[in-house]
Amino acid sequence: MKRLTTKAALQAYRQSQDRNLTIGFVPTMGNLHDGHLRSIERACQDNDRTIVSIFVNPLQFGPHEDFDKYPRTFDRDCQLCQDAGVDAVFAPSPEELGISGRAQADADGRTSLRTTVVPPPKMTSILCGRSRPGHFNGVATIVTQLLNLVRPDRAYFGQKDAQQLAIIRQLVRDLSIPVEIVGCPTVREPSGLAYSSRNQYLSEEQKERASVLYRSLKRAQTLFEEGFRDRAELLDAVKTELATVPELRLEYLELVDPDSLVPLASVRRKGLLAIAARMGETRLIDNLLLNARAPIIAIDGPAGAGKSTVTRQIARKLGLLYLDTGAMYRAVTWWLAECGVSIEDESSVAEALQQCDLQLQSDVEGDRCRVWVNRQEVTDAIRSPEVTSAVSAVSALPVVRQFLIEQQKRYGETGGLVAEGRDMGTCVFPDAEVKVFLTASVEERARRRKLDLERQGYEVNLDRLEGEISERDRQDSTRAIAPLKKARDAIEIQTDNLSIDEVMDKILHLVPAGH
Ligand code: PAF
Repeated sequence: MKRLTTKAALQAYRQSQDRNLTIGFVPTMGNLHDGHLRSIERACQDNDRTIVSIFVNPLQFGPHEDFDKYPRTFDRDCQLCQDAGVDAVFAPSPEELGISGRAQADADGRTSLRTTVVPPPKMTSILCGRSRPGHFNGVATIVTQLLNLVRPDRAYFGQKDAQQLAIIRQLVRDLSIPVEIVGCPTVREPSGLAYSSRNQYLSEEQKERASVLYRSLKRAQTLFEEGFRDRAELLDAVKTELATVPELRLEYLELVDPDSLVPLASVRRKGLLAIAARMGETRLIDNLLLNARAPIIAIDGPAGAGKSTVTRQIARKLGLLYLDTGAMYRAVTWWLAECGVSIEDESSVAEALQQCDLQLQSDVEGDRCRVWVNRQEVTDAIRSPEVTSAVSAVSALPVVRQFLIEQQKRYGETGGLVAEGRDMGTCVFPDAEVKVFLTASVEERARRRKLDLERQGYEVNLDRLEGEISERDRQDSTRAIAPLKKARDAIEIQTDNLSIDEVMDKILHLVPAGH
């Protein structure tokens, strides 16, 4: 693992890497704990290379905050990164990033001689922003600088800092920074206390008592699951539980929209319950996402493991949309042919895609997904031999893939779908409520395929089929675009000795109650 301390060394490292490799980036202030490590593991899993930055950013600490006291454990952090499979740690000095000793005053942007990135005041003036003026300007400034230096494909931020995550997503959108922001779930100690570098300021006893933060949020979640949606009801539930530990001094308790951070009078689809409180001198934050959306079930796995049959049946059984990604690629192929666009001409393809309004709907009667392009139903047209022969080349175009991933994610926003593929759980729906990796041995898949082909009247050689399947597995897991990968949090189901009904049963057990 490389330890890089200068911008020049980071540039040289970036240049030494093949441009086709994907780069994951986890910005940290060091003193790594399990929360960071999960994000790092995720980054290593999703990307070809992972870079972690360790920089205690003076710009985001107020004059009376714990900048000097903030725990610095560089050697230990590097060892943890190395053990986790990180490729490079970037740990610059403040001077290397052009940040002077007056940094904390710089963060307000008014007196600064340095450029300050100022996110929307509406997002920075509430929650933690109230008691930490300038903090999010400091975060936004440093994150922008780090993203420009590292130029990652994906950057990982903890959901624990939900306000920071929302602000960074907004920043990246508004400034068109070409990076995907990945939110990583909060990691908790067995007591429920969220991991934070600041937990080490607490005694064991204080930690135990501080776990009331999470308990109080869970109490509101239980009410939410019972159908309570109003702000007062949900906040009262939190307060009642918090009152059991009077020593904890509440700084704020809020219910906001998780994306815009606007306070909510009630939750329609999604809400963020956020708390900040002090235990002694230590300031702690925590939050919980309340999500009323129907679940997303992402089913990945190698070819021939029975994914599509299972996906269709699960969708039908639960009344969810079967997001037939294959049909989406076919629809785009059909549309490009309609437009007379050559797939060699990337800019014309991109232009044609801008005019392609794709709609999917489950066919209640059958197993199919009905498809419309610009309001014209193309469910049958996309199965034509012309489309079939062109779809594979069209699917290989990065611009098409990008377009369809965005469409798929759009369907995901409202939830209520089942999707199968190679990277549904890792890349398209990393927040899916249920992630399954459906697999079967090569021998079993060859045997199933043989039966299938024989039913269609073909004669096949089992050894040859096994060879072909192994080769396809190899290609699928090593391909540059959408390689086959099991998501870290996916449940693996080995289907060798299972009937379709048994597989379905296993998956249905994973679906949250109420759906
Ligand atoms: O969350 C943190 O650790 C910091 O705010 C970050 C994102 C590394 C910026 O300094």
